[in-house]
Amino acid sequence: MSAWLSIENLGLTEGATRIIDSATLTLSAQRNVVLGPNGAGKSTLLRLIHGLLHPSAGQIRWPKLLSQAMVFQRPVMLRTTALANVEYGLKLKGHGAAERARRASDSLARVGLELIADRPARLLSGGEQQRVALARAWALEPELLILDEPTASLDPASSREVERIINEIAASGTRILMTTHNLGQAKRIAEEIVFIDRGRIVEQTAVEQFFTLPQTEAAQRFLQEETP
Ligand SMILES: Nc1ncnc2c1ncn2[C@@H]1O[C@H](COP(=O)(O)OP(=O)(O)O)[C@@H](O)[C@H]1O
Ligand SMILES: [Mg+2]
Repeated sequence: MSAWLSIENLGLTEGATRIIDSATLTLSAQRNVVLGPNGAGKSTLLRLIHGLLHPSAGQIRWPKLLSQAMVFQRPVMLRTTALANVEYGLKLKGHGAAERARRASDSLARVGLELIADRPARLLSGGEQQRVALARAWALEPELLILDEPTASLDPASSREVERIINEIAASGTRILMTTHNLGQAKRIAEEIVFIDRGRIVEQTAVEQFFTLPQTEAAQRFLQEETP
């Protein structure tokens, strides 16, 4: 894949704090995982890229504008059925009722939730809600899916299920940009790791190399601390 995103000297300051500090990065792999300690700026970087935050400095360049969707650690469910939650995203994009219903049902089936389509979304388990959130994103067939710690609130079984769905979305051709606390998950999903520390992009390395021979001391320290 050729470069699909380039970031130049991106900064976000809050008061005197540089939350993102002069970040320069080019993404060309299809599956990218951002790793770094708590508070490093991972969520902030993803929110900047998705346009939820406005940078204080620098540029975000899209060689070709990509349709994108974002999934968060805690899914935001509307007070309605699972199916209507998936349809809602399609409605915002202007799809008609028949197409919405068809695409939403297909998408719920792909995440294995066709049987609970008519249940109130807010009464579903955390794992099921996250799968509804993935179905809502997937129904849009985004060219880029951004996920911020999508399994951090889930038990191991739900977490594996969500991971399986992310890999399927990737296999359908969608670019993935995500963060996770789970290093095993990072290894299983990523082609490239972007490592950030204290608001700075410290290294960007192919996944096998990152976990065997990281380029920087900061990444070595992080791996030592995170590996049991
Ligand atoms: N709106 C804000 N105002 C001030 N500080 C913030 C704001 N948002 C995030 N921060 C701080 O910026 C740092 C990076 O946050 P975040 O991107 O959430 O880190 P991560 O996702 O890597 O844990 C943290 O120290 C956090 O407390
Ligand atoms: Mg975060």
